[in-house]
Amino acid sequence: MSLLSIAEWLQNTSISTGIRESTWVFPIIETVHLLALAFSVGIIMFVDLRLIGAAMRDQPVTEVFNRLQPMALKGFVVNVVSGMLLFWSEPLKCYHSAYFLIKMVLLLFLGLNAVSFQYVTYPSVATWDKAVAPPFGARFAGWLSLLFWLGVVVMGRAIAYATK
Ligand code: HEM
Repeated sequence: MSLLSIAEWLQNTSISTGIRESTWVFPIIETVHLLALAFSVGIIMFVDLRLIGAAMRDQPVTEVFNRLQPMALKGFVVNVVSGMLLFWSEPLKCYHSAYFLIKMVLLLFLGLNAVSFQYVTYPSVATWDKAVAPPFGARFAGWLSLLFWLGVVVMGRAIAYATK
């Protein structure tokens, strides 16, 4: 079974048609997607800015993490669930959209960046917790995250306007 035939099957399910053809459901889900973006990307950006030494420089990194990460994770879950519903409503459009593909690849890279930061860089945080500018590995992870999230948001917007 090819990806295309899965997308075609998904497109013909009643939930997909229901979301797509309703006047209100798609815009409501999209609004939830955008509000969740504020809670996920918006908050993660503050953590990234602390990592690159550009914000909350007088706050220990662990303090910034412990306070902001739980909220960002909740926003991220809502973002992914609402994103999957949007995808469900238009799988064929997404299948043909290079922007959608780039967005998914960027999300994958963001996951890899977060995991490598968590297991390689963060374990030594006690030695640089209060540093105004954290070590190179932490700043690099922060810059990558900022750049990739920007890409995800731009690609998300672009899906609506072009299909290639
Ligand atoms: C988790 C982080 C995510 C962010 C920051 C994000 C960001 C965005 C943005 C900015 C838009 C444009 C909204 C608009 O034009 O009003 C969008 C739309 C969309 N997103 Fe996401 N997204 C995320 C996750 C996902 C996931 C996981 C999926 C699918 C599995 C997804 C699928 C879609 C779809 C299908 C659209 C609608 C495109 C259209 O208007 O036709 N998103 N996203």
